Amino acid sequence: MSHSQPRSVVLGTGSELPSKVLTNSALEQLVDTSDEWITVRTGIKVRRILEDGKGSADMAYHASLRAMEDAGVEARDLQAIIVGTVTPDYPFPSSACVLEHMLGARDVFSFDVNAACSGFLNALAVADAFIRTGKIRSALVVGSDALSRLLNWQDRATCILFGDGAGAVVLGASEDDGRGVLSTRLRTDGSYAKTLYVPAGGSLKPASIQSVQRNEHTITMNGKEVFKVAVRSMEEISREALSDAGVSIDQVSLVIPHQANRRIITALADRLGLPLEKVVVNVDKYGNTSAASVPVALDEARRQGRIQPGDIVLLNAFGAGFAWGAAVIRF
Ligand code: UT7
Repeated sequence: MSHSQPRSVVLGTGSELPSKVLTNSALEQLVDTSDEWITVRTGIKVRRILEDGKGSADMAYHASLRAMEDAGVEARDLQAIIVGTVTPDYPFPSSACVLEHMLGARDVFSFDVNAACSGFLNALAVADAFIRTGKIRSALVVGSDALSRLLNWQDRATCILFGDGAGAVVLGASEDDGRGVLSTRLRTDGSYAKTLYVPAGGSLKPASIQSVQRNEHTITMNGKEVFKVAVRSMEEISREALSDAGVSIDQVSLVIPHQANRRIITALADRLGLPLEKVVVNVDKYGNTSAASVPVALDEARRQGRIQPGDIVLLNAFGAGFAWGAAVIRF
């Protein structure tokens, strides 16, 4: 028996995708685009859209229930709830507080992290740090976003890319040396803040008739720039996280990358020297679900039996900020 520092192990995973499906052909009716363009340039075929009258906390709730059931953990067992989101139900309080109440958790602290598409990786790294220091022994880590709420349905460069969803992971502390989160790495570069952002709705430019008329509450993006930096940065941070974990690339059983664009994923796999069989791709079904993308893909991979005990899995993500991150987990 070893008495080393605790590690965070994944006790359970869950996900929630809204039932409403938006196809490429439906988008052809909205903007000057085609199923062929979207398929070739992004790999996306359909995405899910959260129904009106619901917020992202609702998706977070259903994903969390599934993760907790998978883990065999009750709400009262949770000591922290950390949600990665840029589409909370309200500007404040946090989605995590809304979720905590929905779940009926008690004696818990909850907060959101805002790191856009990297939100889940950031939330995971923070929860892992709390567990490693011994402050807590369990955490619910969620990525939940409804980017459909921030889209300009007249902008073909952005409205075709995104979808809604939520994914959740229950972490528990374990002194079993072998398993768990082996390393996490996070990075940001705020000089790119306006390369991908929502100009209005914050304190700088609060909602006004004019801001709404100018569509300033929707996503503005230089896609080409994001693409370039995303591939380079995810490769770099993945290599750093692997090196921290003392793991070589050929020991990795599965990579779960952020699902933004199939071409970004294949370029990344290529640079890492990994065959596509070792890379999870579900962007065709859900589009870019922001903070939900990695935990949804992780949950699907586990439920499909693609992750077995002992497997080493590499997660990575990249998004607005720019903010990006990677984690290495042994299951
Ligand atoms: O998580 C991070 C979030 N964001 C991302 O990851 C996005 C990363 N970027 C991308 O995925 C790609 O840059 C896009 C998919 C957004 C765009 O693909 P691209 O190959 O970089 O295309 P482009 O922006 O260079 O556009 C090529 C052409 C342009 O026409 P011209 O100027 O060549 O005549 C665009 O106007 O395609 C046009 N175009 C479209 N055509 C049909 C742009 N959007 C569309 C569209 N349908 N939806």
